[in-house]
Amino acid sequence: MTKVRVGLVGYGNAAQFHVPAYRQLGPERCELVAVCGRSKERAEAFAARHGIPQAFGGMQEMLSEVELDAVDLVVPNHVHAEHAIAAAKAGKHIICEKHLTGYFGEPGAPEDELIGNTVPKAKMLQQVVEQCDTIGEAIEAAGVKFGYAENWVYAPSFAKLRRLAAAAGGTIIRVQAEESHSGSPSKYAKQWRTAGGGSLVLKASHPLGAVLQLKQWEGERKLGKPIRPASVICEVGNLTWIEAFKQEEKHYLKTDWQDVEDWGSMLLRFVDGSVAEITAADTTLGGVQNYLEAYLSNARIRANMNPNDSCVAYAPAAHIFADEYITEKIETKGGWTFPSPEEHWNQGYPQEIADFVSCIAEDREPASGFMLARDVTIVLYAAYVSAEEGRRVDLSPILG
Ligand SMILES: NC(=O)c1ccc[n+]([C@@H]2O[C@H](COP(=O)([O-])OP(=O)(O)OC[C@H]3O[C@@H](n4cnc5c(N)ncnc54)[C@H](O)[C@@H]3O)[C@@H](O)[C@H]2O)c1
Repeated sequence: MTKVRVGLVGYGNAAQFHVPAYRQLGPERCELVAVCGRSKERAEAFAARHGIPQAFGGMQEMLSEVELDAVDLVVPNHVHAEHAIAAAKAGKHIICEKHLTGYFGEPGAPEDELIGNTVPKAKMLQQVVEQCDTIGEAIEAAGVKFGYAENWVYAPSFAKLRRLAAAAGGTIIRVQAEESHSGSPSKYAKQWRTAGGGSLVLKASHPLGAVLQLKQWEGERKLGKPIRPASVICEVGNLTWIEAFKQEEKHYLKTDWQDVEDWGSMLLRFVDGSVAEITAADTTLGGVQNYLEAYLSNARIRANMNPNDSCVAYAPAAHIFADEYITEKIETKGGWTFPSPEEHWNQGYPQEIADFVSCIAEDREPASGFMLARDVTIVLYAAYVSAEEGRRVDLSPILG
C-alpha cells in the first residue's frame, strides 16, 4: 500500500484528536509530515508536542516547502472553503472537518454585526450553494479525493446499525436522530458571524450527516443510486430567552446566545417517501445526547453514541472520581454517570481517518465524501429558510 503524507492545517481542538488517529495507522501507511496555522510559533509548539517534523505559519507556505499527498483542514468552518479550493488547485487530496462551509457575512462587514437577525436566510442559502459548487468544481478539476470528516458515519454503533439494517433488508421508513448538550462554552458559537448559525449548524450537522448517509447507503445497496432528500420543514428557537428562565438566579445551561438559535428541529422527506426527524439543542442537561434510531419495515435499531452504558458509575459526591475523565459536558461527576471508556473510538475518529487514508492510497471513494458534505450544508441552510419563511422547502431543485 502507498504511504500517504499528510499536512495538518490547524492545531486546535480537532487537531488533537486527528493526530492519534493518524498515528494508529503506523508509519508504513501514513506520515504526518507538517502542521501549519496562523501562528508559526504555536504550530512549532504543537509539532514538538506531537513529534511532527515541520511547522509553518500558513498553508501556502507548507505546500510550497514540503511534499504532501493530502491536507487535513482542522480550521474553523468559515475558512474551510478558501483552504479547500487552494489545496485542490495545488493537487492535494483534502480531509475536511464538518461542516463544509456556511454564510458568515459579507466581506468587510463589522465583526460584531448581528447578521443572524438581518440577512435573509434565502440569500444565505444562495451563497452557500454557490460556495459549495465552487469547492466541488475545484475538487473535480483537480481530480483529488475529498474526505468529509463526519465522525457519526464511522462511529461503531452507527456502523453496526448499518450492518443490522443490511441483514434485516427491510425499508428504512423513518429515522429519528439528535445531538444535544447543555451548550457550547465558546464565544464564537454564540454569534452567526463567527459560527454561521446556531444549534443546527454546530450540532444537527452530525445527526443530519448520518441520516443522509444512511439513505445514500440504502439506495446504493438496493437501487444502485443514493436515495436523495426531497424537502425540509424546520423550526428554530431560543429556549434560554424564555422570560421565566431568564429570571432564575442560577443557570445550568449556557446562555448569551446573540443572533443564533439554541434549539432547532427539522423534518426531512426523502424521494422514496421515508422521513427523518432531526433535533439539535444547546439546552439539554445530563451530558451529550447523541443517538440515531432507525425504524425499518421489519426491525428497529438504535445507535446510542452518548450516553451508553458500557460503563456505569455511581459516586455519592462529585469529588470522589477526582481528575478521572467521565464523559463530555456533564454538569457533575456525582450520582450515576456513564463514563466513556474509549471516547475517540466510540465517536468514530480513528475509523474516519483510517478510511480517508486508505481511500487516498487505494484510489477509491470514502463512505463520507463530497456529496455528503455538500448535502449537509445545503440542507442546513434550506432548513433555516423554512424556519424563517414558515414553509416547506423543496430540496430536489437545489441539490440536483
Ligand atoms: N467532529 C467533531 O466532533 C468536531 C469537534 C470539534 C471541532 N470540529 C471541527 O473542527 C474544526 C476546527 O475546530 P476546533 O474546535 O479545532 O477549533 P480551534 O479553535 O480549537 O482550532 C482552530 C485552528 O484553526 C486555526 N485558525 C483559526 N482561524 C484561522 C484562519 N482564519 N486561518 C487559518 N487558520 C485559522 C487556529 O490557529 C487553530 O489552530 C471546525 O470545523 C469544527 O467544526 C469537529
